[in-house]
Amino acid sequence: MGERFFLTTAIDYVNGLPHLGHAYEKTLADALARYQRLCGRSVLFLTGVDEHGQKVQQSARALALDPQDFCDRQTALFRSLWLRLDISFDRFARTTDPRHKEAVRGFLVRLREKGLLRFEEHEGFYSLRQEQFVTERERVGGRWPEIYGEVIPMREPNYFFLLSRFGERIRSAIESRPDWIVPAFRRQELLAALQRPLPELCLSRPRSRLAWGIPLPFDEQYVTYVWFDALLNYVSFAGDERGGTWWPADLQIIGKDILIPAHGIYWPAILEALELPLPRRLLVHGWWLNRGAKMSKSTGNAIDPVPYLDRYGSDALRYFLLREMTLGNDADFSDEKLLQRYQSDLANDLGNFAHRSLSMIARYRGGRVPGWVDSEAGPAEKEIAAAFDEAAYRNAFEEGDTSTALAVAWTFIGRANRYVDQAAPWRAARAPGSQKRLDLILATLAETLRRIAIFIEPALPRSSQKLLKELGISEPPLLSRAAFAPPRESYSVGVPEPLFPRIES
Ligand code: ME8
Ligand code: MG
Repeated sequence: MGERFFLTTAIDYVNGLPHLGHAYEKTLADALARYQRLCGRSVLFLTGVDEHGQKVQQSARALALDPQDFCDRQTALFRSLWLRLDISFDRFARTTDPRHKEAVRGFLVRLREKGLLRFEEHEGFYSLRQEQFVTERERVGGRWPEIYGEVIPMREPNYFFLLSRFGERIRSAIESRPDWIVPAFRRQELLAALQRPLPELCLSRPRSRLAWGIPLPFDEQYVTYVWFDALLNYVSFAGDERGGTWWPADLQIIGKDILIPAHGIYWPAILEALELPLPRRLLVHGWWLNRGAKMSKSTGNAIDPVPYLDRYGSDALRYFLLREMTLGNDADFSDEKLLQRYQSDLANDLGNFAHRSLSMIARYRGGRVPGWVDSEAGPAEKEIAAAFDEAAYRNAFEEGDTSTALAVAWTFIGRANRYVDQAAPWRAARAPGSQKRLDLILATLAETLRRIAIFIEPALPRSSQKLLKELGISEPPLLSRAAFAPPRESYSVGVPEPLFPRIES
């Protein structure tokens, strides 16, 4: 078994339907998982759903459904959307899975045995939207920020995790890991937040107020705070086939709204408390906006990915999301931009190169790619053979920067199209003395297309598979096979089908 790579995404609340923001995160994780597989690593790609908590309970009630039935129904929708988007997850975490619930209860017992839980009456303010106690500190100009929704005074005995003991420890852990968060400015924000002393973290909710959660193993009058339950999915679903664990994750992908405090403070503190290692890296993406505002379930401006999948296909939607978003920033979704990318990058650049290459092989050589003859190669062939900037492509993917990685791949596709224009196989086809030259051009085109099929795989798995099949290649795509190495024997290829048919605007 080769090197291992474990990556996770946030697990989505199932109270609403998945929208384009969720689709982006899962697609980003998928492209990075596929990139790791392309490098020959053995990958565990974990995604899933967050099924407990107030929001889910409320949504189930509104439909007069049992919360578990409601979750089953909603979760099926998330899963089927991920399958349509070709999200190649290896495991799907559901927090209502009995094994997860048992694991969470075990972790709670451990915290208690370590003396890290305290039962006390707490008087303060409670945010109904965030399902957590908030402090006066959070008020801005006397008002509670919008993200907290309705905030009510509350007095209640609860179990608290002694988070305050971990502030210094996690701050120094993060300080000693300069690359722990991508992009780096998010790490600075987190370190700034860790300057202040941490309040204790309320880990329980009385059952009278919230029934839909994991009962505390030592006090059945309470259920577990949904974030504690949710974060632990990363560990509870990480078991490997040898009875060990994949944890720590190599990469955890989350949106910017759940870094502080959830993944940047609570999560490392919980891990420290349980004596588990921290994840190796967090990748924090920005938001997809709909006309300038964050797309979200609660504001009703969510964009449904399904009509776009119907119209453009999954590769095109994936490509758009991965190419258009600059890592860490926000991006505005628009139909015009999607159509523009579809037409220029996919139909024109990639689709055109694939189509003209395969159809010239069909037309001039009856679908047989001529064997390669080294001595015939000229400067143009040597140039296209060396044109791909593999180091830049790898670096970009290692940093989670899919936009740059795809820009590198598209620079290569642009060069490939220019090669066709310059080599002008149609001219060689007409000149009687140019048959060897034509053979060489066609062999170069087929080999270049094979390489492109490998480079696009993380973003465009369907197109990649189609092209490899048309080229008669059955081995799985690997970067170690992506160097220019045309076969010396001739071989046959299939008839090209358009990858990205024209779409009327
Ligand atoms: O936060 N653009 O679930 P969630 C990009 N259950 N990403 C977006 C987005 C947008 N407009 N809207 C949401 C939760 N996301 C918790 C996570 S993890 C142990 C528990 C991202 O359904 C968001 O940033 O509200 C988060 O990473 C993911 O979708 C799930 O959001
Ligand atoms: Mg959210």
